[in-house]
Amino acid sequence: MVNESTLRNRLAEHGQEHLLRFWSDLSPSQQQELAADIASVDFPLFDRVMASLGAHPDDLDPDAFGVPHTLPERPTADLASTFARARELGQQMIRANRVAAMVVAGGQATRLGYDAPKGAYPIAPVSGRSLFQLHAESILGTSRRYECRVPWYVMTSTANHADTVELFEKASFFGLQPDDVRFFRQSMMPIADTDGKILLDRKHRVALAPNGHGGSLTALAENGMLDDMANRGVDYISYFQVDNPLVMPVDPLFLGLHAIERSEMSSLTMSKADDHEKVGHFVTVGGKLRVVEYTAFPPSLIGQRMPDGSRKYDLANIAVHVLNRGFVEGIVGDRAAVALPWYLANKSAPHIDLKTGRRVTPRKPNAIKAEMFVFDALALAERPMLLRAARHERFSPVKNPDGVDSVVSARRDLVRRAAAWLESGGVTVPRDPEGNPDCVLEISPLAAVDSEMLRERGVGGLSIEPGESRLID
Ligand code: UD1
Repeated sequence: MVNESTLRNRLAEHGQEHLLRFWSDLSPSQQQELAADIASVDFPLFDRVMASLGAHPDDLDPDAFGVPHTLPERPTADLASTFARARELGQQMIRANRVAAMVVAGGQATRLGYDAPKGAYPIAPVSGRSLFQLHAESILGTSRRYECRVPWYVMTSTANHADTVELFEKASFFGLQPDDVRFFRQSMMPIADTDGKILLDRKHRVALAPNGHGGSLTALAENGMLDDMANRGVDYISYFQVDNPLVMPVDPLFLGLHAIERSEMSSLTMSKADDHEKVGHFVTVGGKLRVVEYTAFPPSLIGQRMPDGSRKYDLANIAVHVLNRGFVEGIVGDRAAVALPWYLANKSAPHIDLKTGRRVTPRKPNAIKAEMFVFDALALAERPMLLRAARHERFSPVKNPDGVDSVVSARRDLVRRAAAWLESGGVTVPRDPEGNPDCVLEISPLAAVDSEMLRERGVGGLSIEPGESRLID
């Protein structure tokens, strides 16, 4: 039985009594739903976050910006032996079951306009494999190659948890051991109006949104995932986003360099595609490594060039990181969610008009959504490491249905990469006069997770006709 006056008193302490405005119109089960939503809200945290309204972590002084040090994509002569050692060490770390993969898939896929978990999107150009299947098979391919277990931690949110778990179950976990796939849910934060009043999404539902991928660190702890990792002997978390079909979920070289550099958190980076690419930028601010989103990047710095004409602030965040489990434990330990800054974004959010009781969908931003970003943990690391990677090998995110960073561009890039891998294995790939593959190619991650594995497998005898669709699996 829900006690209305207890609820009312609790809300009154935080100036949010209006959430009960329609209480007497609700059925008993709706009252329970509303009470459960209210119980899920961490009001002291919400009050703290709202108190920072106006003090945005992106209010940065351009004069404090610097360019971080990076390790190169290909080793220079002086680094050749370090890279070779790193690759060997990374493979040992994987073989010893010390590495886990982790994907953040709690986002709402608003831009893609896809009414299911984004990971279910059929992206592979020939087979139609989904994003989740590609990632799962890369992880399976890696565990077979190194004869080890690579547990996979999949972060969902309330909005897509049940659907995500169901689709893995229906697909028999894409061949992975069910025990090696762990789903965990990130927390939600209330959506408020510009005065900090929490919105009702329905008369019996509080408006809530996922708390950003920075919420993954606390969610790992709150859901027992860090303990699960410790029990399995996992020391390194290989983190990536669900929307990048080119990602290599577990990369021996990156892991090995991370360990050799004694970094607590490392990131892959690459040159921006152009000045205005919609990515975060790696910079140093006051000596600390940070990611500054394109939306917050000082316009005066965007076009700056080095004396040799190259772009000065050129390092894109592709959201691929390695984090030490111990480092995450330290962050979430006693300082909990306060360790990472909160970003308050203006959004338009459907809500119940408190006067009329009708649900309205504003066209203009009317609401504030609070999120944390995982890359802010870099500033807490003592020796963060940045490694450059090749764009055509590692990054082509699916954000939109078409155009830049889209389903269309990601499929094109999967085909281009498959063509390059096949050519490196001695296969002749038909190309059109512009040099693009004149065929549709797909390499299953179970066949190869990189070009070296494809060469080991031996593909020299393959012949591909112009216009052909070919799946290598
Ligand atoms: C993100 C990065 C940007 C980077 C780009 C690369 C931020 C703020 N920016 O941009 O620096 O260059 O990716 O593609 O992240 N997610 C959750 N829970 C949430 C919110 C997001 O799990 O509460 C997941 C999404 O499912 C997705 C990923 O995080 O896998 C990225 O989210 P998205 O909102 O698409 O980030 P971008 O703005 O595209």
